[in-house]
Amino acid sequence: MRVLGIETSCDETGVAVYDTEAGLLSHTLYSQVKLHADYGGVVPELASRDHVRKILPLIQQALDEANTKPEQLDGIAYTAGPGLIGALLVGASVGRSLAFGWNIPAIGVHHMEGHLLAPMLEENSPELPFLALLVSGGHTQLVQVDAVGKYILLGESVDDAAGEAFDKTAKLLGLDYPGGPRLAALAGQGKAKRFTFPRPMTAKPGLDFSFSGLKTAAATTIAEQQALAIAAGLDVIEQQTQADIARAFQDAVVDTLVIKCQRALKQTGLKRLVVAGGVSANIRLREALAATMKQQGGEVFYPRPEFCTDNGAMIAFAGAYRLAAGERAKENISVRPRWPMTELAEPGVGLLPY
Ligand code: KG4
Ligand code: ZN
Repeated sequence: MRVLGIETSCDETGVAVYDTEAGLLSHTLYSQVKLHADYGGVVPELASRDHVRKILPLIQQALDEANTKPEQLDGIAYTAGPGLIGALLVGASVGRSLAFGWNIPAIGVHHMEGHLLAPMLEENSPELPFLALLVSGGHTQLVQVDAVGKYILLGESVDDAAGEAFDKTAKLLGLDYPGGPRLAALAGQGKAKRFTFPRPMTAKPGLDFSFSGLKTAAATTIAEQQALAIAAGLDVIEQQTQADIARAFQDAVVDTLVIKCQRALKQTGLKRLVVAGGVSANIRLREALAATMKQQGGEVFYPRPEFCTDNGAMIAFAGAYRLAAGERAKENISVRPRWPMTELAEPGVGLLPY
């Protein structure tokens, strides 16, 4: 089965062609980073309009690179939620309409299920069941995955997502959007333990997260260091101090995520850990979780870095999985900006309720 996948839930237009026999045939991505940089964050209306501009050329490119004609496709998968409504509607309208025109089935994919299954695109693909840590700009969740579509939510962030905390702290440090990767790069030059931030919600039992306090702790430290810099006759905080703060923040997030993963592995008895979503591109987090799993005799699985952040390949893959099981979207165009992953069911034959 050969599937065209379309991702437009936020600020990346991603298109890919995945074949259940031959694997990933092509993937193209256009990032809107430059478009939103001046505003310090994603402007939803600008995102939607840019998806409209880019989506058809990217689909053409993905099909050409996959050496695939429309009549060779068996289905089209598009992100149906969660995400920005206007952005989602672009991918859903185009995907659903092309499927209608080409007389092939369509499927609306859950964005986080896409992230969750992304490590299965790799050669070293995880076997089920596994524990998943989903860390993106909008979500921080620990999920017990017994089967595709069978998700038990063990814990999640009660406020900011890990990626959101990275982005907000980066902004406080004066780093440009998108801040997460920039903060991580700066942290790489930082000295450990010069500053110490809390490991939120690790002292009491439970698997939920809270990152907004950590961002506030960073804000307080930044303000203190700014005052010290001004008192010393400087305009801004020294570069090394900035890096040390970034390091302390990253270490606190990574430690917190590691502690909660260890706890969830113990609670569930699972030995395999899947880490996905934008923050899973963070090298420190990847190293720390790899070391933990090695120590515990388990194994950790990640997507390759380019498939940690939003992309069309994960949508094509997740869509192919559900299309192969006989699932189909109805012929109307509809999306779900809010859509709890626990509402998903195991892939089965039939029409989906969106
Ligand atoms: O999965 P994703 O591309 O989009 C959402 O579904 O949200 O995740 C984007 C998030 C952003 O918050 C971004 O700052 C963060 O992932 N991110 C990182 C890194 N790369 C991306 N955070 C920390 N370190 C990184 N290397
Ligand atoms: Zn995402």
